[in-house]
Amino acid sequence: MKRKVIIDCDPGIDDSLALILALNSPELDVVGITIVSGNVKAEQGAKNALKVLKLMKREDIKVYIGEEVPLVRELITAQDTHGEDGLGETNYKEADVEINYGGVDFILENARRGDISVIALGPLTNLAKAIGRDEEAFNMINEIVSMGGAFKSHGNCSQVAEFNYWVDPHGVKEVFEKSKVPFSMVGLDVTREIILTPNLIELIKQIGGEVAEFIVNITRFYVDFHWEQERTLGCVINDPLAVAYFIDRSICEGFTSYLDIVTEGIAIGQTLVDVGEFYRKEHNGLVLTKVDSKKFMKIFLERIFKDNKKDIEIVINNEKYGLI
Ligand code: BDR
Ligand code: CA
Repeated sequence: MKRKVIIDCDPGIDDSLALILALNSPELDVVGITIVSGNVKAEQGAKNALKVLKLMKREDIKVYIGEEVPLVRELITAQDTHGEDGLGETNYKEADVEINYGGVDFILENARRGDISVIALGPLTNLAKAIGRDEEAFNMINEIVSMGGAFKSHGNCSQVAEFNYWVDPHGVKEVFEKSKVPFSMVGLDVTREIILTPNLIELIKQIGGEVAEFIVNITRFYVDFHWEQERTLGCVINDPLAVAYFIDRSICEGFTSYLDIVTEGIAIGQTLVDVGEFYRKEHNGLVLTKVDSKKFMKIFLERIFKDNKKDIEIVINNEKYGLI
């Protein structure tokens, strides 16, 4: 049985990889893509989502622009990380498809219809607005899996804050406080372990095909950024882990907790995970802390080559990744 999902995102290099993974996953029925401002402004994000849909020959899926600014803070984008165009300055040709607006209403309409989940790969502004507009409908959503936040890991925007939650902490707070929907936080504790290494990128290039070429091209800028910023080789691909976890729960493990977020001051955007039960509040989320990165990579590789199977046995550092 396919599960119906809306992918709420801000593409974004790793968002684009997550979209490719979702579109090649038989377990998912992607009913629409909603866009929020984050890595780039929402309009650019929508253009990028459409480029991915064109590449994947899935232009039947509609893209809806949602909120263009965070609830309270001024928008701060991440074009230093993702490039001016959000796709590593590859400037792929725009798809000739109309962009829709009304992302928040699209989420609510689907919630009212029932049997829908949301995989959120950007700031939570669209979800926060949806809950503010119609809490009852919002709470009909089956599940939210959100890439964002950090528990023990250091941040990537400040010592303590992860980008998605730092961009719109008030949006996150609204969701944490009002939502009754089961919520999983796929934060930096687990996503930092998902690294597209130079070896893997070379492998993707060698296996080849249109999708592979796109991945190699858009990740180049991201790899350079990681080297400049952290002196690491390769790039951390956060967002596809949220999709993979949605499909296969055995990829990550964690615990439920009461979650809150800091909305001002030096620690703005820091996720508060009440692991010690100091606040004695009802648990409002599942925090993922362990990840089987090899299992993730196996799923990711198999699926990006779904339409270009070569039956090559992949072995990297004596680890078998199976037939691609
Ligand atoms: C998150 O921030 C964005 O830059 C990525 O797309 C990802 O969603 C990682 O902190
Ligand atoms: Ca993202």
